[in-house]
Amino acid sequence: MDYVRKNEAWIPKLGFGTFNLTGREAIGILEFALDVGYRHFDTAQMYENEDVIGKVIGSTSVPRERLFITTKVWGTNLTENRFLPSVEHSLKELKQDYVDLLLIHWPNKNIPLEESLDQLMIAREKGYCKLIGVSNFTVELLEKVEKRGVDIVCNQFEYHPFLNQDKLLAKTREMGCFATAYAPLAKGQVVDIEILQYIALKHKVKPAQVALRWLVQQEDVVAIPKSSQLYRIKQNFDVFNFHLDEEDMEKISALQSKNMRLIDPEFAPTWD
Ligand SMILES: NC(=O)c1ccc[n+]([C@@H]2O[C@H](COP(=O)([O-])OP(=O)(O)OC[C@H]3O[C@@H](n4cnc5c(N)ncnc54)[C@H](OP(=O)(O)O)[C@@H]3O)[C@@H](O)[C@H]2O)c1
Repeated sequence: MDYVRKNEAWIPKLGFGTFNLTGREAIGILEFALDVGYRHFDTAQMYENEDVIGKVIGSTSVPRERLFITTKVWGTNLTENRFLPSVEHSLKELKQDYVDLLLIHWPNKNIPLEESLDQLMIAREKGYCKLIGVSNFTVELLEKVEKRGVDIVCNQFEYHPFLNQDKLLAKTREMGCFATAYAPLAKGQVVDIEILQYIALKHKVKPAQVALRWLVQQEDVVAIPKSSQLYRIKQNFDVFNFHLDEEDMEKISALQSKNMRLIDPEFAPTWD
């Protein structure tokens, strides 16, 4: 496993995405992921599975300090009076005193950003999280965070071989943050691409592994693929035993000209 180092934390470059994993089925899947070696888990208030993650990490023999848990505050909870109670609820569901990383899941245009950022910092002061960050923030929004003097360490956004995120990555890095690539497999679509199949054959791996390797080989980039299939969970984790050369990296990067965005960060979810 490779790591990103931020403040005192070592963040595993390959994490496990948990969107759409709920209920009893999720317990077996998460236990399997822990057995395979995943130590970094990505959840959110919106995923309604913090309780399941809590159950699994509460019963594993893996020491808590070896795990890296991220959760995200949903857009309806970003106000001064809802933010901290929502985080307290998340911690109760997770059966934890703290999470390693707390993110604003999505900017909410109806709530002043400064208000949410202040609450994020208070959550850290209270010990509810070790690190703070944002998700789905554009360059313009990151500039506002910078102006407010908030020392975030992470921006989580859509990033895979079909989407050019050079500008957002540059701004993220310039702020001393790491980038967490969500939908790193373009929701499974990477497997159908000929050039990825060709590079995979060359390295005796699968196209999904090539896509993940391309991400984690980049400086300060972390990837959080999700799978509910045991063989894929194993496959996605096994990306540190081969290396893409410069030519491979360039060929994959060339696919970014597709500019295929699966989730638009400008899209404002309907907050109720
Ligand atoms: N911050 C945000 O707003 C945000 C937004 C989206 C996602 N996320 C986070 O990012 C995580 C990952 O994103 P995602 O779940 O949207 O997309 P993804 O990880 O790119 O793709 C998941 C899809 O790919 C399939 N898949 C997984 N491994 C595969 C493999 N080796 N070969 C072929 N297909 C494979 C999965 O199917 P099977 O389950 O059948 O294997 C699933 O349908 C989420 O779970 C969540 O934690 C965050």
